[in-house]
Amino acid sequence: MKILIVGQGGREHALAWKLRSSPLVKEIFCAPGNAGTALEAVNLELAATDIAGLLDFARKERIDLTVVGPEAPLVAGLVDAFDKEGLRVFGPSRQAAELEGSKVFAKDVMRSAAIPTAESQVFNNADAAEAYVEGREETRLVVKADGLASGKGVTVCQSRAEALDAIRRIMRGREFGDAGAKLVIEECLDGEEVSILALTDGETIIPLETSQDHKAAYDEDKGPNTGGMGAYSPAPQISPLMMDNIIGQILVPAVHAMKRRNRPFKGVLYAGLMMSYQGPKVLEFNVRFGDPEAQPLLMRLKSDLAPVLMALAEGRLGEIDALQWDKRPSVCVVMAAEGYPGDYPKGQVIRGLDEAAQVEGVKVFHAGTTLKNGQVLTNGGRVLGVTAIGDRLGDAKLRAYQAVKHIRWPGAWCRHDISDKARQYLRE
Ligand code: AMP
Ligand code: GLY
Repeated sequence: MKILIVGQGGREHALAWKLRSSPLVKEIFCAPGNAGTALEAVNLELAATDIAGLLDFARKERIDLTVVGPEAPLVAGLVDAFDKEGLRVFGPSRQAAELEGSKVFAKDVMRSAAIPTAESQVFNNADAAEAYVEGREETRLVVKADGLASGKGVTVCQSRAEALDAIRRIMRGREFGDAGAKLVIEECLDGEEVSILALTDGETIIPLETSQDHKAAYDEDKGPNTGGMGAYSPAPQISPLMMDNIIGQILVPAVHAMKRRNRPFKGVLYAGLMMSYQGPKVLEFNVRFGDPEAQPLLMRLKSDLAPVLMALAEGRLGEIDALQWDKRPSVCVVMAAEGYPGDYPKGQVIRGLDEAAQVEGVKVFHAGTTLKNGQVLTNGGRVLGVTAIGDRLGDAKLRAYQAVKHIRWPGAWCRHDISDKARQYLRE
């Protein structure tokens, strides 16, 4: 089997690493990939959103399966273009990807399917949004740009002034362009966040193991929101009973609602949940593997991923045996560039990768890296996802941070408390 992976982050490196271990897989290409995927696959000089270029390559190389990592090419219609040509592809169609591409659409699906989520209102103009915020009692509100904004479109506002500022930036200032043409304003929920990912071909749903991301930049969830500073799996907050509840109240109705709307969902359905006092509520749907959640999840997956993704792409996920998982927990610590999530320098030489790789149970997934003259250089804000597995969560954490200690470049930093939230639920 020849596989093309689209994307260039830690998630794509983890997918390449996992798929490479499959005896069914002969060759892997990654477009455009990073210095890490270069070790598992052949990198291509093709952007993830260059749909015409990717299609051309897949046709010429007779790629058997294309696996799409990030949301942008999905929302732009990559899957539709491949489907039309009869090329097998893993991911949702453009219309199904709206579940992530439009928060207004996602809210509408949730409302119609009675999926628990925050109370919200949609606004098409700034005057109405401002009047709504002014007219409410001073409460914490969340202001969300409707469209894709590289994970930066959500502002959790502590005061009315902050909410008004967010409306001004997003809708009047068009900080995220047309993604801010509509806004969702919703109640702020409290609790712990967990990530529930499931594979579905629109008929069969195979939930993956649970995980938890760390969205805030600094320890103890302080600082600005990021793309995710680390993740671990499983999330002991979610009991088997709770998982059944999430499947029945969230995953099944979401897949069914998409089918009824004639937008059958194929790919990874990712529900970002807040475990509120009233039970799990959906903060957002994503239409792809989470990054960094994919790294600890794929490290724990024992089953061969290639036939699973192929079956999904062919609409026969029901034929697949139950997935086998390593019972041991895994932890991924993201190492970031100085200044991230704001501006950051690129091109710093990364040292110590070989020493880090020697630590037992560790795999260093690359995210924002590139190869130049045989050296690995930083090339993004989230640079590496240092991932480890261990008998207990504490062991996995220790191993990950031992590996982190070996890696250096000027300004490198990470959170130090990845997975600590799970401790209160464990008897370690
Ligand atoms: P989203 O892109 O919708 O997941 O939002 C990004 C982050 O904003 C989430 O991971 C949460 O940390 C936070 N967030 C989003 N919606 C809410 C909400 N209704 N209440 C509290 N926090 C939220
Ligand atoms: N880890 C959050 C995301 O992938 O959106």
